[in-house]
Amino acid sequence: MSLDFQPELIRRYDVSGPRYTSYPTADRFHSGYGPQQHARALAECSSAAVSLYVHIPFCETLCYYCGCNKIPTRNHARSAPYLDQVEQEMRKVAGLLGRRAAVPQLHWGGGTPTFLDDAETTRLMEATREHFDLQAGGEFSIEIDPRKVGARRVEHLASLGFNRMSVGVQDFDPAVQQAVNRIQSFEETREVIDAARSSGFESVSVDLIYGLPRQNAFNFAATLEKVLDLRPQRIALYSYAHLPARFAPQRRIREEELPTPQAKLVLLGLAIRRLAHAGYVYIGMDHFALPDDELARAQGEGRLHRNFQGYSTQAELDLLAFGVSGISKIGSHYAQNAKTLDAYGAALAAGELPVERGITLDADDLMRREAIQRLMCDFHLDLGALAARHGVDDPQQRFDADLRRLQPLVQAGLLELDDLRLLVTPQGRLLVRVIAMQFDRRLHDASAQLQAPRYSKVI
Ligand SMILES: C[S@@+](CC[C@H](N)C(=O)[O-])C[C@H]1O[C@@H](n2cnc3c(N)ncnc32)[C@H](O)[C@@H]1O
Ligand code: SF4
Repeated sequence: MSLDFQPELIRRYDVSGPRYTSYPTADRFHSGYGPQQHARALAECSSAAVSLYVHIPFCETLCYYCGCNKIPTRNHARSAPYLDQVEQEMRKVAGLLGRRAAVPQLHWGGGTPTFLDDAETTRLMEATREHFDLQAGGEFSIEIDPRKVGARRVEHLASLGFNRMSVGVQDFDPAVQQAVNRIQSFEETREVIDAARSSGFESVSVDLIYGLPRQNAFNFAATLEKVLDLRPQRIALYSYAHLPARFAPQRRIREEELPTPQAKLVLLGLAIRRLAHAGYVYIGMDHFALPDDELARAQGEGRLHRNFQGYSTQAELDLLAFGVSGISKIGSHYAQNAKTLDAYGAALAAGELPVERGITLDADDLMRREAIQRLMCDFHLDLGALAARHGVDDPQQRFDADLRRLQPLVQAGLLELDDLRLLVTPQGRLLVRVIAMQFDRRLHDASAQLQAPRYSKVI
């Protein structure tokens, strides 16, 4: 997928917007959807195969930029009682499902999954296999913080069945690392990636962030060279989302050290050019991959999907999430677990599912979810065909407001609109979430307009 980097256009449309890992977005979930509703959805779920997510919230140190759901602690005694709870949750969920479902896709995220030691990762994987049928040839991925993981631990993870990893890097420059409280050497990162390759991991992805304090074109170019030297199959290039009102640790970042929006765009342009020159192709929202990577091939063939973990080649499966803050998706329902350890543990101790909020989608939501998902994966969308799949007779009328909202974007060159067929242009691709936002009915509800911005900027 080719990109045409147009800084002026990006500056013009650099608005706050959701990332659409779900539609409706998680801020629309409500407490009227709780344990009972989720239990019913699980009991009614007839999917032969499901995807699993396990959230491990602990981190040994706190990276100041971090917007993830995490608990900083050096006390490793905290993981054992947490694993007891996760196992309790798995048992309960598997019981409600009433079968040992097939699992072609599993992801451990965080926080830092490698906060767990070898015995604990073994224990968690064994518990998972007891309740679910992890399939040979599945995608089993884990997020790795290379600062605490050596070659031997990587081999252990491979022996448990993991075959994909994403490695947190963010930036290799010592001054940037100091400003964000994440000191990580190139050598320890390379050790992990080399070990992943030699122990049979099929794919390694590296996370980078642009827009961090003290980053400039000079030192970010050096970081990119180091990353390219590692030649990961995939690179996630995130825009730093600075929301200090929401994420307290970000208040420790000195705002005067943040690159200006102008300088941030220079970093993005630099990265896009350098990655393209090194042979990486744009997959979609923040993601790049080598052309022979399965994601790149899937995109070429219109088989790409998107879920809470990002892009995937697996057809959209129901997703069961375990652990604090995890979000499950079952058919037309989403359910999110309690976000604090106390609330999560208390619900399980009371014999309940630890679900705190959720939502059931109506027919219009389901159609819009597909529209947004397809736009973000394929960069084109046939509204007529979409409407027909959802039993809508008059797409022109149903999408009237959306089409009107799209007009200025068409004029600005972000997309072409032919009859009811949308095609995102190479210069519109970096702004695909602005296009997706036009289909977000809930975002455009009059009442929603009155609320304060909750989302990060697009770039
Ligand atoms: C849960 S963390 C990664 C796993 C592991 N804890 C680590 O740090 O290596 C997932 C990724 O989210 C990204 N991230 C976290 N906070 C962010 C923010 N405020 N803006 C943009 N990206 C962010 C980082 O690239 C990070 O690697
Ligand atoms: S980036 Fe990773 S290690 Fe750092 S605080 Fe966030 S989750 Fe923890």
